[in-house]
Amino acid sequence: MNKKILVTGATGYIGSHTLVDLIEQGYEAVSLDNESNSSKDVLDAVKEITGYRCPHHTVDLCDYNDTREVFLQHGEIKGIIHFAALKAVGESVGQPLRYYENNLVSLLNILKLSQEFNVEAFVFSSSCTVYGDVSTSPVDENTPWQEAASPYGQTKQMGEKIIENVIPTTNIKAINLRYFNPAGAHPCGLIGESPRNAPQNLVPVITETAIGKRKDMTVFGDDYSTRDGSCIRDYIHVCDLAHAHTLALDYIFSKKQNKPVEVFNLGIGDGLSVLEIIRTFEEVTGESLNYRIGPRRPGDVVAIFSNYEKAKKELGWSPQYNVKDIMKTAWIWEKNRQKLLNI
Ligand code: WQD
Repeated sequence: MNKKILVTGATGYIGSHTLVDLIEQGYEAVSLDNESNSSKDVLDAVKEITGYRCPHHTVDLCDYNDTREVFLQHGEIKGIIHFAALKAVGESVGQPLRYYENNLVSLLNILKLSQEFNVEAFVFSSSCTVYGDVSTSPVDENTPWQEAASPYGQTKQMGEKIIENVIPTTNIKAINLRYFNPAGAHPCGLIGESPRNAPQNLVPVITETAIGKRKDMTVFGDDYSTRDGSCIRDYIHVCDLAHAHTLALDYIFSKKQNKPVEVFNLGIGDGLSVLEIIRTFEEVTGESLNYRIGPRRPGDVVAIFSNYEKAKKELGWSPQYNVKDIMKTAWIWEKNRQKLLNI
C-alpha cells in the first residue's frame, strides 16, 4: 500500500503543486484546507495532471474536533505536510492577532493529532523569514536568527521552536523546510498561484499588472542599500519546492534521519532585486510593465538569499528551474487563468 500523507493547506499554491509531486512519486495524498484563500476546484486540475482524485476535507485546523474527524476517517496517516497558514508578510503587520492565532493554534492541533494517531513523518512549511533582517547572504541553516521583521515571520520562528521542543517527546521525525521566495507555476499551465484574495507577493502582482488586471504596480522602495536600491530575494520555482517535500518524506521513511528534527533551506542560492525581476519578466515575455517607485513596505527585509548545500547533500535536492523559467511559467499561468475565469 502507498503511504498515506495528509496535506494541510493542500488546495493552496505550494500545496497543490506538492499534491502533484507526491502522487507522481507514489504517495497517497489526502487534501485538507479551509479554503479561506483557495478552492478545492484545483483538485480537478490535479486529477487532470496525475489521473488521481485526492480525497478532500474542507476543515479549519483551528477546530480540533473537525480535524480529529479526518484522522478517524483515514486510519493510517503515515505523514503530514503542514502548509496551512496565513502567509502575507505585509498583511501580517496590520493583523498580528489573526496571524498568531491562526498559524499557531493550527500547528498545535495538528501536532497533537499527529502524536495521537502515530504519524511517523511531519514536514513543516517554514520560511526564510525566520532569519529576520540578516546583514549578509547567503544564509545557511546555522545562520543566527534576527528578530523576525513581521508577525508572519514570528509565527514561523515560534512554529520551529514549538516543533523543536515537541517532536523529541514523540515518536515522530520532523523536517522544517525554509522556503525562500516561491514563484512560478507548473509548466503544464493547469495550476499556479490562484489565491481568493488579491495576491500581495511580487510575481503575481507583476503578471496581473502585465495582463491588465491591475493598472499599475508599485516597487516598494528603491532607496535600500543594495546594488540598485530595491530589495533582494531568492526566487525558487514552486515545482522545485514541491519536489523537496516528497524528498523530505522519503528521507524520513528511509530512516536516513537520525535527529528528531532536521532543517533545510530551499532556494536557488542567488539573489535578484525587485527591479531585476521586473526586467527579467519584460525580457522573457516581451511585455512592458507599468510600475512606479513608492515608499518602503513595513516588514520587508533588505536582502536575503540561500545556501542550499545541506538539502543538496542530505535530500539529494537541487533546483531544476531558473528565474526565467519562473517568469515564463507564471506568465503562461496568468494568461490561462484569465481564459479559465472568462469561460
Ligand atoms: C518580495 C519583494 C517587496 C509586491 C515571501 C512570501 C512569504 C515567505 C517569504 C514563504 C519585497 C517587493 C512586492 C509589490 C514590491 N515565503 N514587492 N511590490 O515579502 O519576500 O515574502 O517570501 O514562506 O510567504 O510572501 O515576498 O513577493 O511579497 O516581496 O516591490 O507589489 O518584492 O517589497 O521587497 P516577501 P513578496
